[in-house]
Amino acid sequence: MSAAVLRDARQVRFAALPPLCLYVHFPWCVRKCPYCDFNSHERAGPLPEREYLAALLRDLEALLPSVWGRRIHAIFLGGGTPSLFSAAAIDELLSAIRSRLHVEPDAEVTLEANPGTAESARFRGYRDAGVNRLSLGVQSFDDGALRALGRIHSAHEARRAIGMAMAAFGNVNIDLMYGLPGQTFAMLRADAREGVRHGVPHLSAYQLTIEPNTAFFSRPPALPGHDATADMQLEVENVLREAGFEHYETSAFALPGRRCRHNLNYWEFGDYLGIGAGAHGKISFADRVTRQEQVRQPREYLAAGARSERIIAARELPFEFALNALRLIDGFDAGLYAARTGLPALTIEAALRAAEAKRLLERRGGRIAPTGLGRRFLNDLVALFLPAQES
Ligand SMILES: C[S@@+](CC[C@H](N)C(=O)[O-])C[C@H]1O[C@@H](n2cnc3c(N)ncnc32)[C@H](O)[C@@H]1O
Ligand code: SF4
Repeated sequence: MSAAVLRDARQVRFAALPPLCLYVHFPWCVRKCPYCDFNSHERAGPLPEREYLAALLRDLEALLPSVWGRRIHAIFLGGGTPSLFSAAAIDELLSAIRSRLHVEPDAEVTLEANPGTAESARFRGYRDAGVNRLSLGVQSFDDGALRALGRIHSAHEARRAIGMAMAAFGNVNIDLMYGLPGQTFAMLRADAREGVRHGVPHLSAYQLTIEPNTAFFSRPPALPGHDATADMQLEVENVLREAGFEHYETSAFALPGRRCRHNLNYWEFGDYLGIGAGAHGKISFADRVTRQEQVRQPREYLAAGARSERIIAARELPFEFALNALRLIDGFDAGLYAARTGLPALTIEAALRAAEAKRLLERRGGRIAPTGLGRRFLNDLVALFLPAQES
């Protein structure tokens, strides 16, 4: 193929822009967990609730000209611990968002809550404000494991929080973690089974990872070995499959029809506005895809905020797309790549063929999906989509 054709193939051109969602970051927690590298800061004294709301709206207004006329399909209030904010503050925020953006009437609106900050009146207040999905950071139902993770709540409090969340919302996710310090296969199985017994329609199961710049990185705890952790992952998958859950993304499981629309939008390489300290966004225009990032420090964010923005080079888009879409267990529709990157399908053809030759990926019935091997060696699979080194 001639260089001229290749250059043209790398031109981003959207006929229709991708779906758009909104992420709002709340950067405070009661206490910093020793494994967590999220942009979350231990709260010192009362939260500057009013000031933060004002800063979020200033942040949102600066983004509005980039998304005129577009609709919002889902909102995710994440953290940190958004449930430290009062129901009145969440109500004010959601009203302000609705008055500035066209939010679909049936949009999914998720709020993340820590079981240590759960109160039933507060949950009902969130529901009345328009939140229709609650995500609870349970992690484990074992008090010893929760202590080892430095969590602020007991297993009993986690159970109470799930009960209150189910009563107020019904639409509930719980986060579990496995491969924990001191965790045995039997403990993990008990956690997965109990998760299912609570009747939640969505469950996320994350393998504990030791991240740089965390307390666990400086003083690593003793963890179950590689094989034991791999067995735990298989067991989570078995327990959830038997309970009727669909495993739809590396760490996400849902009853039929209950997948998280907001997170699916990330994995399908949709667009999202990100507001709040350290929030990231991705916005497509007719001829380019851009990424935004806000300052991480809450103090700086409150003072003025500063968003940096860059265009994702067309040559990086295949990798960025693969990094997300190949996390999906059923992969993606063959037409999705062109629809979400604005590039012709031929720009990933060589990478797809290389992945097929290594049996990491298969094309079936108009879909492109990782094989079992591809899921196990996801990093190797995704690396095939990296831009070739230009000499
Ligand atoms: C923002 S937190 C959820 C809400 C709230 N902050 C909480 O912890 O209860 C998102 C989830 O990411 C998972 N997570 C955080 N750090 C992790 C790590 N190092 N390894 C695995 N999972 C992690 C936890 O399951 C956690 O519930
Ligand atoms: S409560 Fe959640 S966000 Fe906060 S430090 Fe712990 S895991 Fe991180």
